Amino acid sequence: MQPIPALLEQRARLTTLRRDLHAHPELAFEERRTAAVVADTLRAAGIEVHEGLAGTGVVGVLKRGSGPRAIGLRADMDALPLAEQNVFPHRSRHDGRMHACGHDGHTAMLLGAAEHLAKEGDFDGTVYFIFQPAEETVGGARVMIEEGLLERFPMQQVFGMHNWPGLPAGQFAVHGGPVMACADQFDIHVRGHGAHAAMPHQGRDPVVAMAALVQALQSVVSRTVDPLESVVLSITRLRAGGEAYNIIPDEAYLGGTLRAFKNELRDQAEEAMERICHGIGVAHGVQASLDYRRGYPPTVNTAAEAAVCREIAASLVGPGNVHKDRHPSMGAEDFAYFLNERPGCYVWIGNGLGEGGCMLHNPHYDFNDDILALGASYWVRLAERLLAKD
Ligand code: NI
Repeated sequence: MQPIPALLEQRARLTTLRRDLHAHPELAFEERRTAAVVADTLRAAGIEVHEGLAGTGVVGVLKRGSGPRAIGLRADMDALPLAEQNVFPHRSRHDGRMHACGHDGHTAMLLGAAEHLAKEGDFDGTVYFIFQPAEETVGGARVMIEEGLLERFPMQQVFGMHNWPGLPAGQFAVHGGPVMACADQFDIHVRGHGAHAAMPHQGRDPVVAMAALVQALQSVVSRTVDPLESVVLSITRLRAGGEAYNIIPDEAYLGGTLRAFKNELRDQAEEAMERICHGIGVAHGVQASLDYRRGYPPTVNTAAEAAVCREIAASLVGPGNVHKDRHPSMGAEDFAYFLNERPGCYVWIGNGLGEGGCMLHNPHYDFNDDILALGASYWVRLAERLLAKD
């Protein structure tokens, strides 16, 4: 890999910065220290800073020349509620909080790029550096958009990057379409009629209906979705009954998640689930009501932007190290909200093969400092390419 030499020289500094963030992880919408570090670093580089968007979000604005083009580059800042099991000196100082998804690295890479672009960036237009809170579960991206991000900072395209363990350091994966799935949640409440367990004929057993639902819902994916499409339906929560062995409860509950890459598949799946809940309810003489909630939308790159991102990645690591056809992930990502509003592309940068189960959201995970300069170089080249002088 061939990062920009000036950024390679910054490697030690970026590592110190990244490890400082790693040692001080903050959860969704509580990224106050992180946001202060970001704002201070941007200001020190002479970049205009806007704080307080979505609470702890920070936007840096860097203009050059008089060109009307503008792009957004986004990094996420939040950590996870997880107890870190690493023992290195920069391990989390906070019990039960950890940068286990590498957002510390994402923040450091974008700061490195911002500093470099402020110092010697060669472009004509505006770069918005978006440091967003709360990627992990509550959708900080959506809140930033609701609070006027795209009106206050009008950009034509938006870009994101996530480190990817399992992908070797020095490689990128750039998908030309779907890259991450939606993350919907559902609850199903089964209302029957409680009875003595020895006299089930006097009640309507919601537990047997619940068990039937667990089985029948498996047919949503296998029988209603085109086999060439990808959908996952996982039931992850079941509750029924209390302490007693001899009471059939009044109610039972199940819940889970649905993942897909297309909105029409979410609609299809929800409709099938409604039908099954109704039918199983009727069959068992109980009422099964579905509450289906749409979470993060699918993250879908636009083809033209993906092509540019591939070109930039290839300029840094060679075309043989840029994957076009890697499987997308059934995980979810709130960058999807930006891509619902603007064309853009979210790429994976290899975090390395990892040792000791170093996957995302693992208590042994750590961001790979060897890719900091590479990731920052990617941002710099992308900005200079998209905002190239005529
Ligand atoms: Ni993440």
